[in-house]
Amino acid sequence: MVRTIKPIAANTSGRRVSRARPPQSSPARQPAAVIAIRTLKDEHLAIASVLFGLRLAVGRIRDDGIAPDFRLLQALLDYIIAFPERLHHPKESRHLFTALASRWPQARKLTDALESEHVRGAALIASLQASLAAYRSEPQALDGFARSVDAYAEFHGQHMEKEESLLFPLAQKHLSAPDWERIAAAFLENDNPLRGIRPKREVESLFVRILNLLPEAPARAGKPRPPASR
Ligand SMILES: [Fe+2]
Repeated sequence: MVRTIKPIAANTSGRRVSRARPPQSSPARQPAAVIAIRTLKDEHLAIASVLFGLRLAVGRIRDDGIAPDFRLLQALLDYIIAFPERLHHPKESRHLFTALASRWPQARKLTDALESEHVRGAALIASLQASLAAYRSEPQALDGFARSVDAYAEFHGQHMEKEESLLFPLAQKHLSAPDWERIAAAFLENDNPLRGIRPKREVESLFVRILNLLPEAPARAGKPRPPASR
């Protein structure tokens, strides 16, 4: 369709012309607090989605007898390893936890507990990797891998719920606008290609890899697939 472009009339009246305002939803018009919290919640959603996918994949193997696709399982695990450890937790630990604890010291008990959970999450991820390696070499190790997946998914789900229901509201209540501007700027620096730091790019590449490995579910639902190469 060919669009007609109307010429813009020159303002020859000498009166000021009010410029069109960007929409209210434009990121440039939103407070830094909104942008920072939305970034963290979006990341929680991405982590929860991949954890759901991992549990689903394990359930199909265990309950439906579908042959394991180890490339898909490894890609899902790589994403879970890369996302919380390299992209998400550093934002919270280094910037949000420290800012809140210094602005409102009563929150320190909560931020210390959440920090401990970040450390525990790393240990659970190590257990996930080990249990997938065991399952690759020994089919009977499926139950152990499934237990590790369930343990991590439940642990991390509760962790994210705690952050969203307790941490974020406290931060929104006690941090100032300059605090949030510093935090939002630090979030950008956490993924600054100019400094060679690009976890977001790496995580996006992993996500594309997962999508490319997913079976065409509607057409193949219920049909066993040949074993994938390990
Ligand atoms: Fe989080």
